[in-house]
Amino acid sequence: MIKAALIAGARPNFIKIAALEYAFRTSGKFENLLIHTGQHYDAKMSDIFFRQLGMPEPDMYLGVGSGSHAPQTARVMTEIEPVFQEHQPDVVLVVGDVNSTVATALTAKKLHIPLVHVEAGLRSFDRSMPEEINRMATDAISDWLYVSEPSGEKHLLAEGQPADRIMFAGNVMIDSLRRFEDQARSTAEHERRGLEAGNYFLITAHRPAMVDVPDRLAVFADALLRLAEQAPVVFPIHPRTASRLQDLPIGRQLIDHERVHLTEPIGYLEFMCLMMHAGLIVTDSGGIQEETTALLQPCVTVRPNTERPVTVDEGTNILMDLDAEQIAQAGVKALSGNWKQGRIPEKWDGKASDRIASHLADHL
Ligand code: UD1
Ligand code: UDP
Repeated sequence: MIKAALIAGARPNFIKIAALEYAFRTSGKFENLLIHTGQHYDAKMSDIFFRQLGMPEPDMYLGVGSGSHAPQTARVMTEIEPVFQEHQPDVVLVVGDVNSTVATALTAKKLHIPLVHVEAGLRSFDRSMPEEINRMATDAISDWLYVSEPSGEKHLLAEGQPADRIMFAGNVMIDSLRRFEDQARSTAEHERRGLEAGNYFLITAHRPAMVDVPDRLAVFADALLRLAEQAPVVFPIHPRTASRLQDLPIGRQLIDHERVHLTEPIGYLEFMCLMMHAGLIVTDSGGIQEETTALLQPCVTVRPNTERPVTVDEGTNILMDLDAEQIAQAGVKALSGNWKQGRIPEKWDGKASDRIASHLADHL
């Protein structure tokens, strides 16, 4: 048996690690050591994903919590090093681009443990995003690089990574979506909230470039008020965004608006159900660009760039400037059913984690 340390720290990690944990466990070739760094810790940002996605309790919880980049990254490194020294995993697997990812990668590599990065090679070419730094640093030191879309392979080769260390495995986030989509649909969360299928907007926002700059968050709030003139707006609020919105006068207007449903973060199954039935999803999330593409659902990503270009080139995703009128117009278009047709990208078939488990077992 190969002893594999699987690392999860933040909300998007849980969805990806759930798919990999299941594939590794059922392959009969791996013994999993599941480690939760504690970067995200609220029940609605963490526990609910373990429960809904059928994951076992983590073998270790490091409790690193929140903080600015340096202490958060440092705490993951300090806490995870003795775990690796004690348990001596044969391989360490990290996913995505959060601080827990890069911190774990640095620690594992300096202990000479083979390192795997899942969702490697994505690039926004925007180094003001902390995630871009985390991706580049993690890829540079990983031994095995599993990519989710063709652009990943292209970028890694251009950065000088050897071709025989890169594998186009597909998208593990979509593995979870396919595995749980029937359960998600059966929550009928839109009906439970009194929403009509195809006739509401689903919103998320948590990027520092959007929510940490009051003037930009105010424009976003204005866009949501304009959308609310057309149809109900459902906005589960990320903890980073919650207090910042309350501090803005237009944020208060949004909070008080009768057609705007502001809620705490929503569970995976219920959120997936809301995505399946929304008229349009407006977001700055990474994962949601992919999930809406897999669901063939209209999505506006309010960012100047994306590290997931396949969602724009082949999928239903459109990038948009932070412009309240443009976003409102996208709402009109989507509600009238006048959105571009997408197709599901290659290897977003629910089997990416199986391909990774089998490739890794053969090559380690
Ligand atoms: C992190 C990731 C980001 C990812 C996002 C997914 C980094 C650098 N950023 O951003 O790439 O898209 O997760 O959601 O790793 N907080 C709580 N409760 C929690 C977690 C956070 O209240 O359970 C609050 C804290 O005030 C914290 C803030 O949210 O300071 C930000 O959390 P943090 O993990 O540092 O960054 P995110 O914005 O969540
Ligand atoms: N998500 C959820 N409930 C919410 C918001 C998001 O279950 O209220 C899920 C959704 O599937 C999304 C994933 O969490 O793809 C990742 O979240 P986030 O947008 O925080 O991270 P990113 O992908 O931007 O790093």
